[in-house]
Amino acid sequence: MQWLKLKFPFIYLICTVTAAAWANLERDPNGYLTYCPCMADHFLGSLAFAKGLNRTLILPPWVEYRKGEMRSRQVPFNTYFDVEPLKDYHRVILMSDFMWHLADDIWPESERVSFCYMERKSLQQEKNNPDQPNCHAKDGNPFGPFWDTYNIDFVKSEFYGPLHFDVHHSSMATKWQSKYPADSWPVLAFTGAPASFPVQFENRELQKHMQWSAKYRDAARDFIRKVLPRGAFVGIHLRNGIDWVRACEHVKDSQHLFASPQCLGYKNERGSLYPELCMQTKESIVRQLKRTIKNVRQTQPNNEIKSVFVASDANHMIGELNAALSRMGISVHRLPEDDPYLDLAILGQSNHFIGNCISSYSAFVKRERDSHGFPSYFWSFPKEKDRQQSKAHEEL
Ligand SMILES: *[C@@H]1O[C@H](CO)[C@@H](O)[C@H](O)[C@H]1NC(C)=O
Repeated sequence: MQWLKLKFPFIYLICTVTAAAWANLERDPNGYLTYCPCMADHFLGSLAFAKGLNRTLILPPWVEYRKGEMRSRQVPFNTYFDVEPLKDYHRVILMSDFMWHLADDIWPESERVSFCYMERKSLQQEKNNPDQPNCHAKDGNPFGPFWDTYNIDFVKSEFYGPLHFDVHHSSMATKWQSKYPADSWPVLAFTGAPASFPVQFENRELQKHMQWSAKYRDAARDFIRKVLPRGAFVGIHLRNGIDWVRACEHVKDSQHLFASPQCLGYKNERGSLYPELCMQTKESIVRQLKRTIKNVRQTQPNNEIKSVFVASDANHMIGELNAALSRMGISVHRLPEDDPYLDLAILGQSNHFIGNCISSYSAFVKRERDSHGFPSYFWSFPKEKDRQQSKAHEEL
C-alpha cells in the first residue's frame, strides 16, 4: 500500500508531462484568446480575429440546448470538427487541453479577467456590488454553464470599447496588441464571440478549414449509402419552427436579417428582403423542388436525382413531399432521430442543395458547399415573379 501511495503522484506527474508533450503544448508567448460561443456562426470570425491578433485561439466547446433542460450543454469542439485542418490557417488548442495542461501556469484563478465591450447589467445586480461596473460574464444561459464546464470564474472585468473586431480593415489588430500586450494579458476571455454576425465577407472562405470529424464524416457517408437510393439526391433545409415564424416578422423593417447577405449581397446589391425569402408556403416549396429536379434531369441526364433529403427544425413535410414527388420516381427521407449536426454533414454532401437565405444554418451548408464547388440554391430566390419575367424575356 505504501508503495502505491508513493507511486501514484509520480505516475500522475509522468502522465501530465507526457500528455502535454504529446500534444505539443508549449506556452504561446503571443498569448491566447477564448470566448463563449453563443452562436456557431461566430466561429469563423473569432478564428480570423485570433489570427489578426496572432494569439492562439482556444477552441470552445459547442453550446447546445436539449428539450426540457434548463442549462445548455457543452460538447467538445472536436466531437464535430477536426482540429488539425484549422491549424493550416492558425494556431488553435482545445479548451480542455488548455485548461488541463496550461491554465494553472498561464491563467491562474486569481488572474481571470472577462472582457466585454462595456458594462453589462445583471439581473442579480443588487446581490452583487451595485456600484462596480461588471461584465457579468456568467450571468444567464449559456454563459454560466459554459464557463462552469471548466470551473472558470472571473475575478475582474475589462471593458475594451471602443476597440472592435474587424481586423480586415483599419489597424485594429495593432490597437489591440498595444492596449493588451500578451505578456501582461496572456489570455483574452470574451463574454461573447469576438466576431460579427453574419459571417463577414472576408471570412467566408475559412469554412474550408472546418472539416467534419471522422465520426460525422462516416455517419453522413453511411446514411447516404445505406438509406438513400443509389443516384443523386437533393438536400433541402426547411426552417419553419415557431421561433422562425416570429423572427420572420422582422423582414418588413430590415435591410438584412441574419444570414440574408448570402443571397441578397452585403450591400443588398441583389435585392431587398421580402417575406417569402424567410417563410415559404408548402406549395411554393413543392413547386421549386419539382422545378429544380426537372432542370437537373434536363441538364445532367447522367446523374439522375433519385431522392430528397430533408433537414428541419420543425416540420419536415415528409408526407406532402412524398405525395408530390413519388410520381417523378423520387423518395423523400430524413434522419430517424434529430441530429442537427449530422443533418449539416449530409446536406454538405448532397448533389444539389436548397436552403433558406435568412438562416445561418443554411449559410453554414452553403459555405461548406462553396468550398467544394457544389451548387446551392435558396427558397423563393430570386422572387418567383422576377424569375418568370426574366424567363419571358429570355424566350422573347
Ligand atoms: C506570431 O506568433 C507566433 C507564435 O507565438 C510567433 O512565432 C510569430 O513570430 C508571431 N508573428 C508575428 C508577426 O508576430
